[in-house]
Amino acid sequence: MAVQKDNFSLDEYNVLVDTLNKHADAYYVKDTPTISDEAYDDLYRQALAFEQKNPLLVLPDSPTHRVGDKPLPGFKPFLHSRKMYSLGNAFNRDDIEDFVKRVYKGLNKSVDDDAESVDFALQPKIDGLAVSLVYENGVFVRGGTRGDGFKGEDVTENLKTIRSIPSTLSLPVSIEVRGEVYLKLSEFESVKGDYVNPRNFAAGALRQLDARVSASKNLDFFAYQSFNESVEGELQSMKALSDLGFEVIPFIQSAATVVDIFTYFEKLISQKDSFDFDIDGAVAKVDQFSLQDRLGYTTKMPRWATSYKYKSEEVETTVKDIVFQVGRTGVITPVAELDPVKVSGAVVSRATLHNFDEVRKKNVSIGDTVLVRRAGEVIPEVIRSIAKNDNSKDVVIPTHCPVCDGDVVNLEGEVAFRCVNYSCKAQLKGRLRHLVARQAFDIRGFGDALLDQSVERGLVLSLADLFYLTSEDLYQLDNMGEKSVSNLLQSIETAKTISFSRFLFGLGLPFVGTHVADVLAAHFKSIDGLRASSQDELISIYEIGDKIAASIHRFFSDSIFLGMLDRLLGSGIEIVYEEASSDGIFSGKSFLFTGALTLFSRIEAQTKVKNLGGKIVSSVSKNLDVLVVGENPGSKLKKAIKINDSLKDVSLQGAADELNSTVGFIDILTEEEFLTASQTL
Ligand code: IVH
Repeated sequence: MAVQKDNFSLDEYNVLVDTLNKHADAYYVKDTPTISDEAYDDLYRQALAFEQKNPLLVLPDSPTHRVGDKPLPGFKPFLHSRKMYSLGNAFNRDDIEDFVKRVYKGLNKSVDDDAESVDFALQPKIDGLAVSLVYENGVFVRGGTRGDGFKGEDVTENLKTIRSIPSTLSLPVSIEVRGEVYLKLSEFESVKGDYVNPRNFAAGALRQLDARVSASKNLDFFAYQSFNESVEGELQSMKALSDLGFEVIPFIQSAATVVDIFTYFEKLISQKDSFDFDIDGAVAKVDQFSLQDRLGYTTKMPRWATSYKYKSEEVETTVKDIVFQVGRTGVITPVAELDPVKVSGAVVSRATLHNFDEVRKKNVSIGDTVLVRRAGEVIPEVIRSIAKNDNSKDVVIPTHCPVCDGDVVNLEGEVAFRCVNYSCKAQLKGRLRHLVARQAFDIRGFGDALLDQSVERGLVLSLADLFYLTSEDLYQLDNMGEKSVSNLLQSIETAKTISFSRFLFGLGLPFVGTHVADVLAAHFKSIDGLRASSQDELISIYEIGDKIAASIHRFFSDSIFLGMLDRLLGSGIEIVYEEASSDGIFSGKSFLFTGALTLFSRIEAQTKVKNLGGKIVSSVSKNLDVLVVGENPGSKLKKAIKINDSLKDVSLQGAADELNSTVGFIDILTEEEFLTASQTL
């Protein structure tokens, strides 16, 4: 437990506000928290307690008087039509009771009078990022982050890539919708990269200045608020949002008493491990909008709602050692071996330190006394070092892989240190687990233990070897009888017919999750096309950024990887390529989109082209048929005009319709013209 202090001098209070602001800056602006949420809340309450006793001494920049934080430089500002508020916190049953009493007092009602009862809408508090979305006539036009509550960042392009944010609604209404962008826990495993938790990933992905970086595509959105005159309360509002096409906050329930509210909150916490999203608490809101209006807001929060924050237990222990784990993509993860301690009901003896940057930020050395908790009540995590001991020893980043002794490098632009020996056994085990997974080759019956044994006993020395296993090989593994062997061989055989996108995902390359695999499969059409591509071509693909392109190119230039690929393809694998329809109205035509698109997202437009038989190309040349131009087009438009001008001299037909059908001319369309063409051409 953090130490609570309530007798502050003014100097101490000044230091406290400064400390809180530094932590808030690390959390909101830099997306790299330097303190646990609970420890921050403790400091925050200490500041609040001082301010309540000394209202004349409150510092103007105290975090108790600000809503969120400064927007990042580099984004267009997003001005909120109404302030985006934060929520007050309750930590125990007494706090909830106080909240309910305040609500009744504010409404001049009596808690004891049954006829006067207020309804509360209860719901989980999703651990993500608040955003506001603006729809005009049913079309999503722009969206932004909360920022300081008045002004956030315009992240429209990134929001457009999120599948659960509808681009058009079921009715042509003009409406503002607020909610939480978050990452499903099941997605986090395959995309996490250098991020320590799903919230941290979501913040990074949403606030990428370059919407081409595919990360935000994996995010999701839950709506929790809209400004809609035609509904009367929270529950009705959620129903209306769901009818419009939104995913709304799940598990909403209504309650009228403190007992019911508290029972719901406690039940939610006991079930939180079964959700596919992180929650950091629960929320109670007065249901009726008419009552909300009467209660109004303080400078920071609504008087009609509160959150209930779960406080995870923090326990002290000693770091006995820091060992290194090697993952599927070679990333070396430092893991603390701890003196076993009981935390939130389970004994913890190991905890991840995520990466070496975290070790530095948390200031953890071998021998230190540290605070640990179970993140989301499940995954053991070292919060920070609280004391160095005489024998404390700093961890040294390894230069060689602890498993295969191969070189360890820190690739440009990455936090991670990686073992780059493709044949490393630890990597191979991780890659095999990934290859057999449901979203990849989906080979049932190959559990972790069996895969590890196949590697340890030398039966499988590369991904390809899995497809050459014979019944004699499989009989050598523990507990493999006739039936299991024949089932497994059958699963392997079935898995040999696979879509291009699953095949690419199954290779387990760094940064190639399911979405990037889809993008690559749609662009290249064949494995040979991908193999022959240059790094420049990869970068030119919409949604493939520098880091992804470099990683793919590194593998497709590596002779060991290519040898494995040949052997894999030689095992009888049949890749099923998805053919673009050849009888669509765009059949045979090539398209390129340039500039900022305002009527549809790039991926929507590209899908439309492909569904109608056309193809997407990445650069302007005489082979391009159609260039669709959004706002602020750059050099691509200039180049297309230049090509058309140069062709005019040789073809003097002049009339626009003939011009379009002349070989080499590029049809230049606005977004509206493209939409019309895609419906009528
Ligand atoms: S209501 C005026 N409901 O928590 C009411 N917020 O600490 C505004 N959050 O900024 C918020 N789940 O980002 C609300 N079910 C939920 C929520 C929720 C997560 C976030 C939201 C808000 C923050 C406040």
